[in-house]
Amino acid sequence: MVRIIWQNRILSLILFIVLIIFFSCQSDKKLLNNPSSQKPETEFVNNLMERMTLEEKIGQLNLYTAGGDVTGPTMNGNYIAKVKAGRVGAVFNALSVSFNKELQRMAVEETRLGIPLLFGYDVIHGYRTIFPIPLAESCSWNLELMEKTAALAAEEAASAGINWTFSPMLDISRDPRWGRVAEGSGEDPFLCSMIARTRVKGYQGEDPESPQTILACVKHFAAYGAPVAGRDYATVDMSERMFRDVYLPPYQAAIEAGASTVMTAFNEFDGVPATANSYLLDSILRKEWGFDGFVVTDFNSIKELNNHGFSENDEMAAILSLNAGVDMDMQSDIYAANLMNLVKSNRIEEKKIDEAVRRILIMKYRLGLFRDPYLYLDEEREKATIYSNKILNHALASALESIVLLRNENYGGGKILPLSKGIKNLAIIGPMGKNKLDMLGCWHAAGDERKVTNLFEGIQEQVSQLNILYSLGCDFEGEDISGFSHAVKTAQQADVVILAMGENDAQNGEAASRSQIGFPGVQSRLIAEIRKTGKPTVLLVMAGRPIILNDEEQQIPAIINTWHLGTQGGRAIAQVLFGDYNPSGKLTMTIPRNEGQIPVFYSQKNTGRPYNPKDRFTTKYLDIPNEPLFPFGFGLSYTQFDYSSLQLSDSIISPQEELVVKVMVRNSGKISGEEVVQLYVRDLVGSVTRPIKELKGFRKILLEPGEIRWVSFTLKSDDLRFYNREMKFVAEPGAFMVYAGTNSAECLSAKFNLIP
Ligand code: BGC
Repeated sequence: MVRIIWQNRILSLILFIVLIIFFSCQSDKKLLNNPSSQKPETEFVNNLMERMTLEEKIGQLNLYTAGGDVTGPTMNGNYIAKVKAGRVGAVFNALSVSFNKELQRMAVEETRLGIPLLFGYDVIHGYRTIFPIPLAESCSWNLELMEKTAALAAEEAASAGINWTFSPMLDISRDPRWGRVAEGSGEDPFLCSMIARTRVKGYQGEDPESPQTILACVKHFAAYGAPVAGRDYATVDMSERMFRDVYLPPYQAAIEAGASTVMTAFNEFDGVPATANSYLLDSILRKEWGFDGFVVTDFNSIKELNNHGFSENDEMAAILSLNAGVDMDMQSDIYAANLMNLVKSNRIEEKKIDEAVRRILIMKYRLGLFRDPYLYLDEEREKATIYSNKILNHALASALESIVLLRNENYGGGKILPLSKGIKNLAIIGPMGKNKLDMLGCWHAAGDERKVTNLFEGIQEQVSQLNILYSLGCDFEGEDISGFSHAVKTAQQADVVILAMGENDAQNGEAASRSQIGFPGVQSRLIAEIRKTGKPTVLLVMAGRPIILNDEEQQIPAIINTWHLGTQGGRAIAQVLFGDYNPSGKLTMTIPRNEGQIPVFYSQKNTGRPYNPKDRFTTKYLDIPNEPLFPFGFGLSYTQFDYSSLQLSDSIISPQEELVVKVMVRNSGKISGEEVVQLYVRDLVGSVTRPIKELKGFRKILLEPGEIRWVSFTLKSDDLRFYNREMKFVAEPGAFMVYAGTNSAECLSAKFNLIP
């Protein structure tokens, strides 16, 4: 009897479960069939795509330039006819509200479906107000500051009708011969990843529909910063391990932060050009990382597949790129010219085109352009925003924090810097002294040199009673030394000489690799002549890359790496020279002793024969030490910071536990100052070898004279992960060193163990 009751109960339970499954399937089907369950953006875009012809779809996949960058856009190009015919998805280098409004009007009012255009531009370090080059700003180690820079650059650009920047550039580089180091954030994957997140957040903000934010574009995907021999566009070839450990993390961080678009790189990677590399664009970007934005090529790079020897002709180039995951063709016109025929002849699936169009239209939807195509096009906002005080003030703050003091020796009674405002005669000598244009640095967007405060003006403004003498001395290039004698005479009349030397804006950046990276032209010869006067001298290194200093230049008692600081550069340098701002920048790229040390970076491996200058048969040079001239993380202050008492919360941690690392920092000088406290780790034994130091944390702190602060960091086992022998991203139990200090070479150390 009991058994029968149980059997009945079990049967009714089974029936009940079957019914539930049946009804829930029905309701799932309903959901799938009901478009209102889709995200509004998907529903909108699907509806729109149903009405689009194949030709119109292909039209969305093209990005054309509106002409030169700094000279201004043009309405004469062939692209105008294409916009009117609905054959363009986006235009770049189109600047100003009035100009872009007319283009948008053509797209919206003169085409059948009225799909609005995207407006892209290289807002790399500012739109009109130019901030320090990204490499310089990375030396601030101030993430909040960098986020604000990106947000203000976005606000200014957006006010002029731009809604998409080709930034941030996240190519790690350890080769300062490569000119584009100026656009990146240096050599370290940890720091670059933090900066990547920060800049994406800054550009894109919280609300894509806000007319003050713009889409970010992560570039150049991938590993563009490691061209062989430092030559731009050259081949990149590295191990998968190196790629994943060092080069990939910043791009991934940016995607995790929500970057909307990605630009392919010019280079090949493991034999396959990045623009047709499905491993990069599909396996890693979309499948591993879940990227749902769109991919644009770099300038003409679909066409360049032919030069790479990867495609036979344009048709093949189009097939390879589209199938690899490239959605938008920048400027090569190959999609426009070939996709139609390729679909008709069944050599490309229309589905692939649909996927690309959908991704592009979704971004337009997210920006709010379907709601209001003129959202970004407001003349009043443009007038109120461009060069507004808010933006200019921040450009000054950013320039101040970007400056790195490399050397400051005793001279006479004390340190040579800061200079006394009581000096009577100051000489400024060198091609950067009164220069405005080159202060802006490479990729200076629509920056206007007339708005730049140059070094001469900056000093004049800072110390009004000073008699400032000036001599150009020489140019950035060429052999002309006719200005030397005037420069020497000028120096002789001065109490202090400022040497304003460096690179012009074209001597770094794209297509600006240099095999020798000392001061170009005859600048070093000029420096040598001025040194002979015996005058107290300050050398300003004003360049877009680490500059190698010759033996004599290294002896100059004060050396400041100012980089290219943008619109407010002269003011910032003047404040540092005269002590109104205490420099706090720290190098994010190692400065080598000479080119032979390149590639140069702090996080080297120990090797089987670790460096020992006294033992010939260790990893070393015969002619120079292994140590660079200035290590990663290095930068002086006008005050002094002392480190002591490195303490760990435990000497053993399990994977679930956290290790608290504390170090005491004291400002033992006489003025307040900011210090970037750095934390490094070394995994002593691994299933694959690990670098001798890896940055794992940093804090920028302000200390008053005499003030002591405990600075603490928390390390988790997740922070100790790397790609193990099986290419799994794991932390391996074992012994670790932890280092805390003022730069990568000067640290206190302690040891701990991670247990399984
Ligand atoms: C550069 C990109 C840039 C593009 C558009 C290319 O030459 O490599 O970084 O975004 O031009 O101006």
